[in-house]
Amino acid sequence: MRYLTFALAKGRLAKKSLELFEKLGITCEEINDDKTRKLIFVNEDLKLKFFLSKPSDVPTYVDYGAADIGIVGKDTILEEGRNIFEVLDFGFGKCRMCVCGPAKNKELLNSGRQIRVASKYPNIAKDYFHNVKGQTTEIIKLNGSVELAPIVGLSDVIVDIVETGSTLKENGLEVLETICDLSARMVVNQVSMKMENERITKLINGLKEIIG
Ligand code: PRP
Repeated sequence: MRYLTFALAKGRLAKKSLELFEKLGITCEEINDDKTRKLIFVNEDLKLKFFLSKPSDVPTYVDYGAADIGIVGKDTILEEGRNIFEVLDFGFGKCRMCVCGPAKNKELLNSGRQIRVASKYPNIAKDYFHNVKGQTTEIIKLNGSVELAPIVGLSDVIVDIVETGSTLKENGLEVLETICDLSARMVVNQVSMKMENERITKLINGLKEIIG
């Protein structure tokens, strides 16, 4: 039996998904050790390997088959646009991808005028404005604290994740339009899905039963 390799998006999603795996009897003690500098963790009995990576790299590892399975947010899957199968919605890490800004800029969204949009997700922003809404935009890529952009005058609106809405509220911004719902998903390499179908399907079904 060959190893099945999992790429987990570092952080909360990895923690939560490892908790779910434990319920299925899939354990990996070492990965929970915050002090370790090890990058890859092996469960020899079950022939499984796990590694943590930057969320945006998870779809890349899965697309190239360096990982058979990935666990990552829908936001990253949409932004990266890789050729991978999305097979399961874990139902946690729920949030929304939204167009946000000061309330006064809502009118700009249907004005037909060119607007400036700042985002960590330029592909999602571009797809939404160009293909869904048919509005011309200048997309400005940022790497974090995107809420700053409309406050300091870099952009008219932003495309960003909204979870509780408190970051927006505390900065005088609001949701102007909702693009889509997001949550943690399992993705699978297309070849692995065929070659390791039995093991992967068993895992998906086991997880589905736990998630309910
Ligand atoms: C995310 C997102 C928002 C915030 C939304 O940022 O980009 O800024 O969380 O959460 P809320 O609706 O509960 O306030 P993250 O913490 O990932 O950091 P970032 O600003 O570096 O992207």
